[in-house]
Amino acid sequence: MPLDDVRMPRQQMIRGTGLLLTAGTLAACSGGGDKPAASSEAVTTPPSADPPTGGAITKTADVPVGSGVIVGDVVVTQPSAGDFKAFSSKCTHKGCAVNKVADGTIDCPCHGSKFTLDGAVAKGPATEPLEPKTISVQGDSIVLG
Ligand code: FES
Repeated sequence: MPLDDVRMPRQQMIRGTGLLLTAGTLAACSGGGDKPAASSEAVTTPPSADPPTGGAITKTADVPVGSGVIVGDVVVTQPSAGDFKAFSSKCTHKGCAVNKVADGTIDCPCHGSKFTLDGAVAKGPATEPLEPKTISVQGDSIVLG
């Protein structure tokens, strides 16, 4: 093939470069758009923060009375002072991870189920309580198991 046949007319080349730049800009702008909006809930920890296995998952002082925290796949609540409970963060409806503890309930973002700080269903569509986890308080820490 003669070299002249593979040369691109200047205008076509410029147009092609413009398309590449536009595509690159769109790709750069779309990154991170699927992050959830910042929440005003100070007691929620991102589900990606996995708790250490067999070690302290949180400090007792970090679990507000009448509320709770989500640490990895565990929800730790303190329904009344000194009474700590823990549950799997997996919603019993369809398995989404609950993502918020607020106004006295543990909330699932997928279909709106809410659970009490004792893990019981407060609002459907879930019909089963959250799976309890065994924890113990060791000093100022809450430990799984
Ligand atoms: S998965 Fe939680 S409400 Fe449906």
